[in-house]
Amino acid sequence: MHDTTTQGGTPHIYPIFDRMLSRADKEELLHQHSVMVWFTGLSGSGKSTVAIALERELHKRGLLCRILDGDNIRCGINNNLGFSEADRVENIRRIAEVAKLFVDAGIITIAAFISPGREMRAMAAKIIGADDFLEVYVSTPIEECERRDVKGLYAKARRGEIGQFTGVSAPFEEPLHPALTLDTSRLSLEESVRKLLELVLPKAQRP
Ligand code: ADX
Repeated sequence: MHDTTTQGGTPHIYPIFDRMLSRADKEELLHQHSVMVWFTGLSGSGKSTVAIALERELHKRGLLCRILDGDNIRCGINNNLGFSEADRVENIRRIAEVAKLFVDAGIITIAAFISPGREMRAMAAKIIGADDFLEVYVSTPIEECERRDVKGLYAKARRGEIGQFTGVSAPFEEPLHPALTLDTSRLSLEESVRKLLELVLPKAQRP
């Protein structure tokens, strides 16, 4: 990549090529095709659990993935954002821009965010590229999410201790045409992952 010939004893290091390597170059290196798997659904619906299980199965098959979720995004790049409508849109916009960088690096990118609005999800698809964007709706009913209440947030929201809580005091708009719908109150984790693999593998695997 670099010319390290010497002139007068001084090494000259300069790039021979004036362009960055392309997504296709990276995909070839990784022997895979990148794709965006975008989970949407209520808090507690199972997005992260399914995302993690999917990543493990893809990894086992030699496919490189990267999960983006609240732990690595809302604690880092988006730690200045809350849950107002405007902040959620900005949350999703930044996530989509970051996701695009991963997709451009040839990596199968898996996002697990509530992303409650149709418009914000359409924005994400536009930023990343609609052809690469697989919208997966984790449709677990709110009664089940609330029964699980893994983080105790539904109870707090019902008591009015948290405002603008999705499904309780803030809206969630179901996707109209998701690539896949998974209700984790009806499907086992294995069944959900099997459906996801059927969706993702044909796009990600190279012959
Ligand atoms: S999004 O709406 O902007 O896409 P995101 O997925 O990043 O939301 O974060 C949702 C997580 O933040 C929930 O799973 C929950 O743990 C926590 N949370 C805290 N306050 C709220 C709230 N008002 N509404 C929804 N989730 C909240």
